[in-house]
Amino acid sequence: MLPTTPESLLPLVLRAMQATPDARLRDLLSGLVTHLHDFVREHQVTEPEFERAVAFLVGIGQATGPTKNEVILASDLLGISTLVALQNNPAGEAGTESHAALLGPFWRAEAPECQLGDNIARAGTPGTPLEVRGTVHGAEGQALAGAVVDVWQASPVGLYENQDPSQPDMNLRGQFRTDAAGRYHFRSVRPAGYPVPTDGPCGELLRAQRRQPCRPAHLHFMVSSPGHKVLVTQVFADDSEHLQSDPVFGVTAALVGHFRLAEEDGRPLALLDHDFHLVRGEPVFPHPPIP
Ligand code: BEZ
Ligand code: FE
Repeated sequence: MLPTTPESLLPLVLRAMQATPDARLRDLLSGLVTHLHDFVREHQVTEPEFERAVAFLVGIGQATGPTKNEVILASDLLGISTLVALQNNPAGEAGTESHAALLGPFWRAEAPECQLGDNIARAGTPGTPLEVRGTVHGAEGQALAGAVVDVWQASPVGLYENQDPSQPDMNLRGQFRTDAAGRYHFRSVRPAGYPVPTDGPCGELLRAQRRQPCRPAHLHFMVSSPGHKVLVTQVFADDSEHLQSDPVFGVTAALVGHFRLAEEDGRPLALLDHDFHLVRGEPVFPHPPIP
Protein backbone atom coordinates (compact mmCIF):
# COMPACT_ATOMS: atom_id res chain seq x y z
CA MET A 1 0.00 0.00 0.00
CA LEU A 2 1.18 3.51 -0.83
CA PRO A 3 -0.22 6.71 0.68
CA THR A 4 -2.69 8.68 -1.41
CA THR A 5 -4.05 11.30 1.01
CA PRO A 6 -2.84 12.87 4.31
CA GLU A 7 -5.24 10.56 6.21
CA SER A 8 -4.00 7.42 4.46
CA LEU A 9 -0.44 7.86 5.73
CA LEU A 10 -0.93 7.19 9.45
CA PRO A 11 -2.09 3.54 9.12
CA LEU A 12 0.97 2.82 6.97
CA VAL A 13 3.34 4.31 9.54
CA LEU A 14 1.63 2.39 12.36
CA ARG A 15 1.91 -0.83 10.38
CA ALA A 16 5.61 -0.23 9.71
CA MET A 17 6.22 -0.03 13.48
CA GLN A 18 4.07 -3.03 14.40
CA ALA A 19 6.92 -5.53 14.61
CA THR A 20 8.74 -3.60 17.36
CA PRO A 21 9.50 -6.41 19.85
CA ASP A 22 9.51 -4.13 22.91
CA ALA A 23 5.77 -3.78 23.63
CA ARG A 24 6.10 -0.58 25.63
CA LEU A 25 8.23 1.07 22.92
CA ARG A 26 5.68 -0.05 20.29
CA ASP A 27 2.81 1.38 22.33
CA LEU A 28 4.52 4.71 23.09
CA LEU A 29 5.67 5.30 19.52
CA SER A 30 2.29 4.34 18.05
CA GLY A 31 0.55 6.77 20.39
CA LEU A 32 3.06 9.54 19.71
CA VAL A 33 2.86 9.16 15.93
CA THR A 34 -0.94 9.10 16.07
CA HIS A 35 -1.03 12.35 18.07
CA LEU A 36 1.58 13.98 15.81
CA HIS A 37 -0.25 13.05 12.61
CA ASP A 38 -3.57 14.26 14.06
CA PHE A 39 -1.86 17.50 15.13
CA VAL A 40 -0.31 18.17 11.71
CA ARG A 41 -3.63 17.52 9.96
CA GLU A 42 -5.84 19.42 12.43
CA HIS A 43 -3.58 22.48 12.42
CA GLN A 44 -2.71 22.30 8.73
CA VAL A 45 0.99 22.68 9.60
CA THR A 46 2.83 24.40 6.74
CA GLU A 47 6.30 23.60 5.39
CA PRO A 48 7.91 26.77 6.89
CA GLU A 49 6.31 25.95 10.26
CA PHE A 50 7.69 22.43 10.09
CA GLU A 51 11.15 23.82 9.29
CA ARG A 52 10.86 26.20 12.25
CA ALA A 53 9.96 23.31 14.57
CA VAL A 54 12.94 21.29 13.33
CA ALA A 55 15.23 24.30 13.85
CA PHE A 56 13.94 24.61 17.44
CA LEU A 57 14.72 20.95 18.17
CA VAL A 58 18.18 21.25 16.61
CA GLY A 59 18.68 24.47 18.61
CA ILE A 60 17.83 22.96 21.98
CA GLY A 61 20.26 20.12 21.30
CA GLN A 62 23.02 22.50 20.27
CA ALA A 63 22.42 24.79 23.27
CA THR A 64 22.87 21.85 25.67
CA GLY A 65 26.33 21.58 27.20
CA PRO A 66 28.24 21.12 30.44
CA THR A 67 26.45 23.94 32.28
CA LYS A 68 22.98 23.87 30.75
CA ASN A 69 20.43 21.33 29.56
CA GLU A 70 18.20 23.23 27.14
CA VAL A 71 16.20 20.08 26.26
CA ILE A 72 15.07 19.66 29.87
CA LEU A 73 14.37 23.39 30.02
CA ALA A 74 12.10 23.10 26.98
CA SER A 75 10.19 20.20 28.63
CA ASP A 76 9.91 22.29 31.80
CA LEU A 77 8.53 25.34 29.98
CA LEU A 78 5.91 23.20 28.20
CA GLY A 79 4.73 21.78 31.53
CA ILE A 80 5.80 18.25 30.54
CA SER A 81 8.33 17.79 33.35
CA THR A 82 5.82 18.78 36.02
CA LEU A 83 3.18 16.60 34.36
CA VAL A 84 5.47 13.55 34.47
CA ALA A 85 6.39 14.29 38.12
CA LEU A 86 2.78 14.71 39.26
CA GLN A 87 1.52 11.72 37.28
CA ASN A 88 4.12 9.37 38.68
CA ASN A 89 3.78 10.61 42.26
CA PRO A 90 0.04 11.15 42.78
CA ALA A 91 -1.04 13.69 45.39
CA GLY A 92 -1.72 12.10 48.75
CA GLU A 93 0.62 9.22 48.09
CA ALA A 94 3.52 11.09 49.69
CA GLY A 95 1.62 12.99 52.37
CA THR A 96 0.70 16.64 52.14
CA GLU A 97 4.00 18.19 53.14
CA SER A 98 6.18 16.90 50.39
CA HIS A 99 5.51 15.54 46.99
CA ALA A 100 7.48 15.33 43.80
CA ALA A 101 8.39 18.33 41.69
CA LEU A 102 10.41 18.63 38.55
CA LEU A 103 14.16 18.01 38.82
CA GLY A 104 15.13 21.02 36.70
CA PRO A 105 18.35 21.34 34.72
CA PHE A 106 20.79 22.10 37.56
CA TRP A 107 21.07 19.02 39.78
CA ARG A 108 24.61 17.63 39.95
CA ALA A 109 25.35 14.16 41.29
CA GLU A 110 27.95 13.69 44.01
CA ALA A 111 27.49 16.96 45.85
CA PRO A 112 29.81 17.16 48.87
CA GLU A 113 28.89 14.87 51.77
CA CYS A 114 28.32 17.18 54.72
CA GLN A 115 27.90 16.84 58.49
CA LEU A 116 24.58 17.89 60.02
CA GLY A 117 24.73 21.61 60.74
CA ASP A 118 27.32 22.37 58.03
CA ASN A 119 26.91 25.49 55.93
CA ILE A 120 26.53 24.87 52.17
CA ALA A 121 27.15 28.59 51.51
CA ARG A 122 30.88 28.18 51.15
CA ALA A 123 33.57 30.86 50.96
CA GLY A 124 31.34 33.34 52.75
CA THR A 125 28.62 33.62 50.08
CA PRO A 126 26.89 36.87 51.08
CA GLY A 127 23.18 36.79 51.94
CA THR A 128 20.68 36.36 54.76
CA PRO A 129 21.73 33.31 56.81
CA LEU A 130 19.23 30.45 56.62
CA GLU A 131 18.76 27.41 58.87
CA VAL A 132 16.83 24.53 57.31
CA ARG A 133 15.68 21.60 59.42
CA GLY A 134 13.13 18.83 59.49
CA THR A 135 12.45 15.12 59.66
CA VAL A 136 12.41 12.47 56.95
CA HIS A 137 9.49 10.06 57.38
CA GLY A 138 9.09 6.61 55.86
CA ALA A 139 6.06 4.92 54.35
CA GLU A 140 4.48 4.19 57.78
CA GLY A 141 5.22 7.67 59.07
CA GLN A 142 8.24 6.41 61.00
CA ALA A 143 11.33 8.61 61.26
CA LEU A 144 14.02 7.40 58.87
CA ALA A 145 17.57 7.39 60.25
CA GLY A 146 20.40 7.58 57.71
CA ALA A 147 18.23 9.00 54.91
CA VAL A 148 20.14 11.17 52.44
CA VAL A 149 18.95 14.76 51.97
CA ASP A 150 20.64 16.16 48.86
CA VAL A 151 20.05 19.92 48.52
CA TRP A 152 20.89 22.43 45.79
CA GLN A 153 19.89 26.02 45.39
CA ALA A 154 20.64 29.29 43.63
CA SER A 155 22.57 32.06 45.38
CA PRO A 156 21.00 35.25 46.78
CA VAL A 157 21.57 36.81 43.35
CA GLY A 158 19.75 33.95 41.66
CA LEU A 159 22.61 31.98 40.10
CA TYR A 160 23.60 28.33 40.52
CA GLU A 161 27.34 27.87 41.11
CA ASN A 162 27.89 26.37 37.66
CA GLN A 163 26.43 29.53 36.09
CA ASP A 164 28.56 31.89 38.16
CA PRO A 165 32.39 31.91 38.03
CA SER A 166 32.51 33.89 41.31
CA GLN A 167 31.17 30.91 43.29
CA PRO A 168 33.33 27.94 44.30
CA ASP A 169 32.66 24.57 42.69
CA MET A 170 29.66 22.84 44.32
CA ASN A 171 28.72 25.96 46.29
CA LEU A 172 25.17 25.79 47.72
CA ARG A 173 25.04 22.04 47.19
CA GLY A 174 25.41 19.29 49.78
CA GLN A 175 24.27 15.87 50.95
CA PHE A 176 23.24 15.32 54.58
CA ARG A 177 22.36 12.12 56.44
CA THR A 178 19.53 12.17 58.95
CA ASP A 179 20.35 11.33 62.58
CA ALA A 180 18.88 8.49 64.66
CA ALA A 181 15.62 10.47 65.03
CA GLY A 182 15.35 10.98 61.25
CA ARG A 183 16.24 14.66 61.59
CA TYR A 184 18.41 16.83 59.35
CA HIS A 185 19.56 20.41 59.64
CA PHE A 186 21.94 22.61 57.76
CA ARG A 187 22.93 26.22 57.22
CA SER A 188 22.81 28.20 54.01
CA VAL A 189 21.74 31.61 52.74
CA ARG A 190 18.28 32.53 51.52
CA PRO A 191 17.99 31.77 47.80
CA ALA A 192 16.62 34.38 45.42
CA GLY A 193 14.21 33.85 42.57
CA TYR A 194 15.88 33.85 39.17
CA PRO A 195 15.06 33.84 35.50
CA VAL A 196 15.38 30.48 33.75
CA PRO A 197 18.15 30.72 31.13
CA THR A 198 16.85 32.88 28.27
CA ASP A 199 19.94 33.04 26.05
CA GLY A 200 18.91 30.06 23.89
CA PRO A 201 15.93 28.85 21.86
CA CYS A 202 13.82 28.55 25.04
CA GLY A 203 14.32 32.25 25.75
CA GLU A 204 13.16 33.01 22.23
CA LEU A 205 10.08 30.88 22.84
CA LEU A 206 9.25 32.69 26.10
CA ARG A 207 9.60 36.09 24.40
CA ALA A 208 7.40 34.99 21.49
CA GLN A 209 4.75 33.94 24.02
CA ARG A 210 5.13 37.10 26.16
CA ARG A 211 5.86 34.93 29.22
CA GLN A 212 7.86 36.15 32.19
CA PRO A 213 10.96 33.98 32.89
CA CYS A 214 11.37 34.28 36.70
CA ARG A 215 11.00 31.35 39.04
CA PRO A 216 10.05 32.07 42.65
CA ALA A 217 12.86 31.57 45.22
CA HIS A 218 13.23 27.90 46.14
CA LEU A 219 15.46 25.12 47.36
CA HIS A 220 15.69 21.77 45.60
CA PHE A 221 15.79 18.48 47.50
CA MET A 222 16.39 14.88 46.54
CA VAL A 223 15.62 12.63 49.51
CA SER A 224 16.43 8.94 49.50
CA SER A 225 16.45 5.95 51.79
CA PRO A 226 16.67 2.20 51.07
CA GLY A 227 13.26 0.63 50.30
CA HIS A 228 11.72 3.99 49.37
CA LYS A 229 11.19 5.89 46.13
CA VAL A 230 13.59 8.77 45.61
CA LEU A 231 11.72 12.00 46.34
CA VAL A 232 12.73 14.87 44.05
CA THR A 233 11.06 18.03 45.27
CA GLN A 234 11.36 21.78 45.79
CA VAL A 235 10.37 24.12 48.61
CA PHE A 236 9.33 27.66 47.66
CA ALA A 237 9.65 30.79 49.78
CA ASP A 238 6.19 31.97 50.79
CA ASP A 239 7.09 35.64 50.34
CA SER A 240 8.37 35.08 46.83
CA GLU A 241 7.24 36.90 43.75
CA HIS A 242 6.00 34.73 40.89
CA LEU A 243 4.51 31.93 43.03
CA GLN A 244 1.50 32.22 40.73
CA SER A 245 3.47 32.54 37.51
CA ASP A 246 6.33 30.03 37.73
CA PRO A 247 7.36 29.55 34.08
CA VAL A 248 7.89 25.82 34.69
CA PHE A 249 4.66 25.24 36.68
CA GLY A 250 6.51 23.74 39.66
CA VAL A 251 4.61 25.45 42.50
CA THR A 252 1.83 23.65 44.38
CA ALA A 253 0.33 24.73 47.72
CA ALA A 254 2.04 21.82 49.50
CA LEU A 255 5.47 22.93 48.29
CA VAL A 256 5.29 26.48 49.66
CA GLY A 257 7.50 26.53 52.76
CA HIS A 258 7.14 28.92 55.66
CA PHE A 259 10.28 30.95 56.15
CA ARG A 260 10.29 32.54 59.61
CA LEU A 261 12.49 35.41 60.58
CA ALA A 262 14.53 35.02 63.78
CA GLU A 263 17.62 36.70 65.15
CA GLU A 264 21.05 35.35 65.93
CA ASP A 265 23.74 37.49 67.57
CA GLY A 266 21.68 40.57 66.64
CA ARG A 267 21.57 39.58 62.95
CA PRO A 268 18.57 38.31 61.00
CA LEU A 269 18.32 34.55 60.57
CA ALA A 270 15.73 32.91 58.31
CA LEU A 271 14.33 29.59 59.53
CA LEU A 272 12.70 26.93 57.39
CA ASP A 273 11.17 23.80 58.94
CA HIS A 274 10.33 21.20 56.35
CA ASP A 275 9.59 17.49 56.69
CA PHE A 276 9.74 14.94 53.90
CA HIS A 277 7.53 11.90 53.47
CA LEU A 278 8.82 9.02 51.39
CA VAL A 279 6.77 6.21 49.89
CA ARG A 280 7.78 2.59 49.58
CA GLY A 281 9.47 1.57 46.34
CA GLU A 282 12.71 0.99 44.53
CA PRO A 283 15.14 3.88 44.91
CA VAL A 284 15.84 4.93 41.31
CA PHE A 285 18.00 8.03 40.86
CA PRO A 286 17.64 10.31 37.83
CA HIS A 287 20.51 10.87 35.43
CA PRO A 288 22.18 14.21 36.17
CA PRO A 289 21.14 16.78 33.53
CA ILE A 290 24.62 18.33 33.80
CA PRO A 291 27.88 16.72 34.92
C1 BEZ B 1 15.42 25.07 38.53
O1 BEZ B 1 14.65 25.21 39.44
O2 BEZ B 1 16.59 24.90 38.81
C2 BEZ B 1 14.91 25.18 37.14
C3 BEZ B 1 13.82 24.42 36.78
C4 BEZ B 1 13.36 24.51 35.49
C5 BEZ B 1 13.96 25.35 34.58
C6 BEZ B 1 15.05 26.11 34.95
C7 BEZ B 1 15.53 26.02 36.25
FE1 FE C 1 16.06 25.89 40.81
